[in-house]
Amino acid sequence: MRAYHTSAKPPFIIIDLVNLQSIHIKVDDETAWVQSGATLGELYYSIAKKSGIHGFPAGICPSVGIGGHFSGGGFGTMVRKYGLAADNVIDACLVDVNGSILDRETMGEDLFWAIRGGGGASFGVIVSWKIKLVRVPPVVSVFNIDKKLDQRTTELVHRWQYVAQQLHKDLFIRLVIQDVNEVTKGQKKTLQVSFNSLFLGTADELLSLMHNRFPELGLQAETCTEMSWIESVLYFAGYPRGQSLDVLLNRTVQYKNGVRASNRHIHWMRMLYSYMKQYVSHSPRAAYLNYRDLDLGTNQQANTSNLKAKVWGKKYFKGNFKV
Ligand SMILES: Cc1cc2nc3c(=O)[nH]c(=O)nc-3n(C[C@H](O)[C@H](O)[C@H](O)COP(=O)(O)OP(=O)(O)OC[C@H]3O[C@@H](n4cnc5c(N)ncnc54)[C@H](O)[C@@H]3O)c2cc1C
Ligand SMILES: *[C@@H]1O[C@H](CO)[C@@H](O)[C@H](O)[C@H]1NC(C)=O
Ligand SMILES: *[C@@H]1O[C@H](CO)[C@@H](O)[C@H](O)[C@H]1NC(C)=O
Ligand SMILES: *[C@@H]1O[C@H](CO)[C@@H](O)[C@H](O)[C@H]1NC(C)=O
Repeated sequence: MRAYHTSAKPPFIIIDLVNLQSIHIKVDDETAWVQSGATLGELYYSIAKKSGIHGFPAGICPSVGIGGHFSGGGFGTMVRKYGLAADNVIDACLVDVNGSILDRETMGEDLFWAIRGGGGASFGVIVSWKIKLVRVPPVVSVFNIDKKLDQRTTELVHRWQYVAQQLHKDLFIRLVIQDVNEVTKGQKKTLQVSFNSLFLGTADELLSLMHNRFPELGLQAETCTEMSWIESVLYFAGYPRGQSLDVLLNRTVQYKNGVRASNRHIHWMRMLYSYMKQYVSHSPRAAYLNYRDLDLGTNQQANTSNLKAKVWGKKYFKGNFKV
């Protein structure tokens, strides 16, 4: 661990966790110790190397870091069955502001609760996490159905909102809505809705569930693919079938967009937010700590205070934000 500071009395320090990336899987008691500088991809890879029937319910992108992800919540394709990554943390090693090294017992249940959803940054440095592995079947099934936006697709999206939350806990169906070029119409932009799914079971079971609960989507046997859980991790990360697991260890992240592109995207997000405002939680309007919304407010460099931070702090922490 290296700490950087620029003057005798630094306003802050940055701790580089890059060397804290060890992962110890204990298959016999279905637990693991994971250091905060590891990535989700490295964790999934390590589990799969040790067991074909265990997994961990955390986020979809392999490059995401354990430290911020676990401390802020962490949800992915198994959220319906197993909850958040933070729900499956059973112990942690934390260094507090005075340099004391604490575990669950010595930090106490309040602090242990806070670092599983409240973010790490306010409470100390979490060096490592003990997690409970979860059981996955040797065969899982996935599908992806792309629909061009038309009246029927709009009806499907509407229907999905009522059905998805009531499906069997082994079945996860998410929607990805994005713009695509329509080749036949001179590259005109159109919207595409993708129904993207993981089922913790065989394709036969999946087909019968879908037939009973969401027949409108018209899932066919040839659209479902059976694979191992770790292959489904690669599938959701966008890799082709047969891709080597080693890509999960790739730490390189590419930032393609310049300032102009990123301003354009932020502008789109603001338009979407204002359009969706009437449909989302309000009084208080809440936000997920791991999807920071800078428009809610941020600390102003040197002159921050709990009172100022309360304005946006309540959006993330609700009644737990005490001034
Ligand atoms: C490409 C991408 C895909 C994503 N997909 C998902 C997803 O599927 N599901 C989901 O839930 N979220 C997802 N996220 C959001 C992700 O969970 C957050 O961005 C998370 O904060 C990342 O943690 P990090 O450690 O990589 O980031 P960092 O920016 O390093 O950390 C985030 C915050 O946590 C603090 N922190 C980090 N490590 C520690 C530590 N060891 N001790 C104390 N505090 C610490 C940092 O100070 C900072 O405030 C995604 C993000 C990206 C960029
Ligand atoms: C750190 O030490 C100071 C001085 O002993 C004490 O007042 C404070 O409560 C300690 N903080 C924590 C988080 O233990
Ligand atoms: C790692 O990721 C980067 C960025 O996405 C990519 O350019 C590179 O080819 C990847 N390397 C491997 C070995 O997959
Ligand atoms: C912070 O507040 C003090 C006193 O109110 C003021 O003198 C100082 O300029 C402020 N600093 C910044 C960076 O705003």
